[in-house]
Amino acid sequence: MKLILTVVIATFIAIIAQTGSLQAAGLGDIEIDNHAESKKEAGVGTVIYTHTQHAKRTKCATCHPSIFKKEKGANQINMGANMQGEYCGACHNGMMAFPMFHCDKCHTDVIQVK
Ligand code: HEC
Ligand code: HEC
Ligand code: HEC
Repeated sequence: MKLILTVVIATFIAIIAQTGSLQAAGLGDIEIDNHAESKKEAGVGTVIYTHTQHAKRTKCATCHPSIFKKEKGANQINMGANMQGEYCGACHNGMMAFPMFHCDKCHTDVIQVK
């Protein structure tokens, strides 16, 4: 009985500690906005990156530090690199996740080209 109680309490503490560390880790949605000028020229808006959703599907270590530096704004993500399979393009290649031509899935306010 005492052992079960200890396990239950330990698990509870572990869950609280994990939740706390995720919040401290800056999870949530992250606005990626290092290239305001060229996005404006191309007619696409900012990118709201769904960090929590991504972290539910993929281990932290898959992305950090090999694909992304673990600091908001520290990665010079651009479409040339994305198209060559770096950054978001490491997965958004039409095989692991939706491909790069779905501009409006990542960018807000995409001007429709006719
Ligand atoms: C999988 C997500 C994703 C998709 C799909 C995507 N982008 Fe991006 N794009 C980004 C991210 C992230 C950045 C970096 C934003 C920043 O730092 O301002 C970016 C940056 C840009 C930039 C500014 C940097 C540069 O390379 O000039 C332009 C312009 C751009 N995207 C256009 C597009 C267009 C047009 C499409 C569709 C053909 C597209 N993007 C599709 C994620 C995406
Ligand atoms: C699918 C890729 C991916 C996964 C998985 C992922 N991250 Fe991130 N993480 C990112 C991107 C992209 C950014 C934004 C980087 C930027 O702004 O240049 C980021 C940013 C961060 C930041 C900086 C936040 C800030 O406000 O400065 C921390 C801390 C972080 N991640 C921790 C984690 C932890 C902990 C996990 C696992 C629970 C995780 N990440 C999982 C892609 C990922
Ligand atoms: C480690 C692989 C990986 C990387 C790197 C990655 N994604 Fe994703 N992303 C996924 C998967 C898997 C899905 C879910 C399947 C789908 O929607 O095609 C997804 C879904 C999304 C969605 C749909 C909303 C959601 O979260 O379900 C958006 C928007 C998105 N990604 C944007 C980005 C942007 C922007 C970047 C770069 C900053 C990025 N992703 C980097 C794997 C990745």
